[in-house]
Amino acid sequence: MNHISINTPKKDLLWQNLGFEYIRTDFRFVAQFKDGKWSEGGLIESENMEIHEGSPAIHYAQQCFEGLKAQTAKDGRILLFRPRLNSERMNQTAKRLLMPEVPKDLFMRGVFETVRANQPWIPPYGTGASLYIRPLLIGIGENLGLRPAKRYEFRVFVSPVGPYYKGSGLSVISLAVTDIDRAAPLGTGNVKAGSNYAGGLLATRKAQELGANEALYLDAKTRVYLDEAGSANILLAMKGNRFVTPQSEAILPSVTRKSIMILADKELGMKTEERPVNLLKEIDEFEEVAACGTAAVLSPVGKIWVNDRWYPFYGNGVKVGPVMQKLYDLLTQIQKGERPDNFGWTVSV
Ligand code: PLP
Ligand code: COI
Repeated sequence: MNHISINTPKKDLLWQNLGFEYIRTDFRFVAQFKDGKWSEGGLIESENMEIHEGSPAIHYAQQCFEGLKAQTAKDGRILLFRPRLNSERMNQTAKRLLMPEVPKDLFMRGVFETVRANQPWIPPYGTGASLYIRPLLIGIGENLGLRPAKRYEFRVFVSPVGPYYKGSGLSVISLAVTDIDRAAPLGTGNVKAGSNYAGGLLATRKAQELGANEALYLDAKTRVYLDEAGSANILLAMKGNRFVTPQSEAILPSVTRKSIMILADKELGMKTEERPVNLLKEIDEFEEVAACGTAAVLSPVGKIWVNDRWYPFYGNGVKVGPVMQKLYDLLTQIQKGERPDNFGWTVSV
């Protein structure tokens, strides 16, 4: 879409007040897979999809998605954060669900073209908002029995967003362990299949009824070890300058987590560990807890509900601790181009 100047005026939105809601933008990118190959793909205007009523995506959840963000840097560049990792993860999910891989070039072109075409919707620097990018891959076409689709659609849409959890910037959240599991050890917990999220809606509801922001999951086999939250991985600053994240076969490998573990090691000099975490046995050693992800960024967790009681952490569950504050600042400064990108993580659109 070369005819769209990058100097197009911005939309008149209250950027600072945005939550994490769908806002219709002007263009989305669509490509289709048919007869064993992908179409060229291109931008369209309609946000509606017309698909066959038998489509495997809507019966048997043969579909997946990704999430990443574009941010306006101080110098006006539009920055993506490690988008190739999202492309790789979408393809890992695709393989697991017997869907065709989306070639990296097609994925990147879909992301780049959609971001560029919707330039007026990219939140300006300094507003705390960003452009959320949602690539999806769905199995479409006439079908009835349980089998993979013959046709697929890859689509990318974007929406300007503010913080995922209410409040602005770094607000402290809480998590609750319920009686519901998210993913079986050999199931689909380590890929970004939509079905993982449908199965978690009831857990989120139950967690919210307990006064928490979101559900926290234990491993489904023993219900002893920490898995992750409904939409984010878990980070723990533990006694002895240790920075720990749960290892599990059933959690989504988070791009944000991977990056924060490097920052904790290289920038804060902490001893980082990715290992199974026995929640009740180790909870007294948690000094600071956080949930991390593209939407959640780094959200400090003030308290966790487990076994009928709250366990508060730093500052009695209401304050942001120094380790999580530093990591949040490091991560978001890199993402907004405010600090040298020593790891080569950002990509200019
Ligand atoms: N875990 C789950 C279940 C998620 O939905 C997400 C969000 O994408 C994450 C973790 C964080 O992953 P990432 O940092 O790649 O966004
Ligand atoms: C993301 O963080 O990008 C996600 O996909 C989580 C989703 C539940 C909003």
